[in-house]
Amino acid sequence: MKDSVVRFTPIQRIEHSTVMSLFAVLALTGLPQKFYDHGWAQRLMGLLGGVDTARFVHRTAGVLFSLVVVVHISRLVVLVAQGRTSLALVPTRQDFRDAIVTLRYYLGLSDHQARFDKFDYRQKFEYWGLVLGAAIVVGTGFILLYPATLTRFLPGEFVPASQLAHSNEGLMAFLVVIVWHIYNAHLNPDVFPFDTSIFTGRISRHRLRHEHPLEFERLERNERNKSSKIA
Ligand code: HEM
Repeated sequence: MKDSVVRFTPIQRIEHSTVMSLFAVLALTGLPQKFYDHGWAQRLMGLLGGVDTARFVHRTAGVLFSLVVVVHISRLVVLVAQGRTSLALVPTRQDFRDAIVTLRYYLGLSDHQARFDKFDYRQKFEYWGLVLGAAIVVGTGFILLYPATLTRFLPGEFVPASQLAHSNEGLMAFLVVIVWHIYNAHLNPDVFPFDTSIFTGRISRHRLRHEHPLEFERLERNERNKSSKIA
């Protein structure tokens, strides 16, 4: 029996690496535009080759990021319609119960820890936060990209509103990634110094049992059933 199991498919790993790289480029070229009157932003803009280059790179990465989002959502809709994907990331009532159990545990009010399935409530929150955040930056990004064309159909107020929403959502997404995601993927004592599963696609049985006991038990049941059928 192998001591690690598959957690992410090759497509999911490629999607993660692509989003990670594009997001880094978008934050690097977008944030100095927002904070243009700060010294650090001006120095960074100089290193990037000036505002025109930064804007060009940001727009190109933005269009690629939008394509990744559209492909991800379309693929998901098709797979769900065909019943060919698990709904493990869909929030359920159990997630709310788990959040309360975890809060009580951390406050020392209970010594009972929540038992998670494939994804816990924090991972689901992060995923849906990314999907909703992406919808905002992509929607407003296209309004900023084609303001004259799109205001033939939309009221003109959409342009300044989009600028505000785009730049603040971009900043918030950046802070969420730095504070929350980097903690979960690197600094959390359970995975320190680095959770490699999204890159290798595999997770150790030990971690699976510890972090996702319900999935671990289901996996063991399936393996037992399979080996009893073969015998
Ligand atoms: C998570 C990804 C993204 C982040 C963090 C981000 C961040 C930013 C920031 C901070 C600004 C400066 C706004 C200001 O001046 O206050 C900006 C501008 C802009 N962004 Fe984004 N953005 C992202 C995605 C996108 C996408 C997907 C598109 C296109 C579809 C896009 C297109 C633009 C455009 C057109 C501008 C105006 C600057 C210009 O004219 O070149 N961005 N972005």
